[in-house]
Amino acid sequence: MPDDLCSFAKDAFILKSPKKSPLVLRMIVLVLVMVCGVYICSVCLKQISTRTKSEFLNVQVIERPCPEPNIEPWEIPYVHYPKPKTYSRAECACNPVRYFAILSMQRSGSGWFETLLNNHTNISSNGEIFSVKVRRSNSSTIIETLDKIYNLDWFSSASKNECTAAVGLKWMLNQGLLQHHEEIVEYFRTQGVSAIFLFRRNLLRRMISVLANSYDRNAKLLNGTHKSHVHSPHEAEILARYKPVINATLLIRDMKQVEDTQTKALEYFKSTRHIIVYYEDILKNHTKLVDVQEFLQVPLRDLKSRQVKIHKGTLSKYVANWDDVQNALNGTQYESFLHGAYRK
Ligand SMILES: *[C@@H]1O[C@H](CO)[C@@H](O)[C@H](O)[C@H]1NC(C)=O
Ligand SMILES: *[C@@H]1O[C@H](CO)[C@@H](O)[C@H](O)[C@H]1NC(C)=O
Ligand SMILES: *[C@@H]1O[C@H](CO)[C@@H](O)[C@H](O)[C@H]1NC(C)=O
Ligand SMILES: *[C@@H]1O[C@H](CO)[C@@H](O)[C@H](O)[C@H]1NC(C)=O
Ligand SMILES: *[C@@H]1O[C@H](CO)[C@@H](O)[C@H](O)[C@H]1NC(C)=O
Ligand SMILES: *[C@@H]1O[C@H](CO)[C@@H](O)[C@H](O)[C@H]1NC(C)=O
Ligand SMILES: *[C@@H]1O[C@H](CO)[C@@H](O)[C@H](O)[C@H]1NC(C)=O
Repeated sequence: MPDDLCSFAKDAFILKSPKKSPLVLRMIVLVLVMVCGVYICSVCLKQISTRTKSEFLNVQVIERPCPEPNIEPWEIPYVHYPKPKTYSRAECACNPVRYFAILSMQRSGSGWFETLLNNHTNISSNGEIFSVKVRRSNSSTIIETLDKIYNLDWFSSASKNECTAAVGLKWMLNQGLLQHHEEIVEYFRTQGVSAIFLFRRNLLRRMISVLANSYDRNAKLLNGTHKSHVHSPHEAEILARYKPVINATLLIRDMKQVEDTQTKALEYFKSTRHIIVYYEDILKNHTKLVDVQEFLQVPLRDLKSRQVKIHKGTLSKYVANWDDVQNALNGTQYESFLHGAYRK
């Protein structure tokens, strides 16, 4: 066997001997050289083309950076240039964007507050995104959701055009915010998110609103639909007709609990850049909204909402067992909630 192989190789060698047919061999070499040349050329061209493409991209990035915004050094971490995955910000690509979150509790005027913010051409507040449970199932789903919102890839009725200058959401304290506070505070710190705390001073009014709203969830007083917010005095009047009974025994404990939750939130998020706003203050003095717009660094606008307040004026007419409530709060730190429209 080895012998056979050897002789075969010898034959092959003899076959290739230049003496046999030099012309054919030269042709073969020529063809090989040509093929090689074409191959090398094509590889070179490919490399050149990718290099010029990437150089072209680099040049674009280097030649057209966004001009340095005219801001104080402390502001730098809070100024962003998001690049949405789903569309281009076009001529607004260099309009800086601020990230915010409205941290609040149910029935504290945050729905109204959000409509005011969304009346600003350059503000998109995307609503109560974490009212959907799966989005707050764990810190990874929360962060994924936040990434999408702050990258301007979240679409809601509040989404504005490409020139958004402040983007955010409304987030209730009991929607995973306190539960996952460590990861969220860290996210706010690293991503430069500012917090707007929106609280209500008069917790008795808040409680009445909670009870009435939860009653309407089933009763559906407005032509069979449940509404948490209304746009006409007529609708407001219908909703305000319902007078809840307040459990006077639990009243103080419940209000303390709300206060504790608010205190805890402020403690957890104290290292985050934040502002504290009270619903009553905005209601009394619309110029309070100037503070909020300055906090968000957006151009100042006069902001309007179409929403109408449901429970107006003195509280006694909105509670079925007003005497019990009065007795329970008289002489306590919460007594002022009974009188006038607001607590100082
Ligand atoms: C703001 O509210 C006013 C009055 O309701 C309305 O005319 C205007 O279109 C609103 N602007 C935006 C951006 O929603
Ligand atoms: C977080 O929750 C989502 C949705 O419920 C789930 O698919 C995912 O595996 C969870 N991740 C972790 C780290 O628990
Ligand atoms: C606000 O929006 C308007 C119109 O969309 C745009 O022209 C303007 O540049 C935006 N302002 C900021 C500060 O982004
Ligand atoms: C209920 O429906 C009627 C007729 O469809 C309408 O006239 C009325 O304004 C509605 N009421 C409310 C509170 O929406
Ligand atoms: C108030 O709540 C307590 C505890 O749940 C209950 O024992 C009590 O009967 C309630 N009082 C009224 C008037 O509903
Ligand atoms: C209204 O709020 C603005 C901004 O916070 C403040 O400067 C102004 O003094 C307030 N006006 C009244 C009447 O409280
Ligand atoms: C509240 O308590 C004071 C005494 O502390 C009493 O004079 C007053 O009548 C009480 N008011 C009501 C509405 O119960």
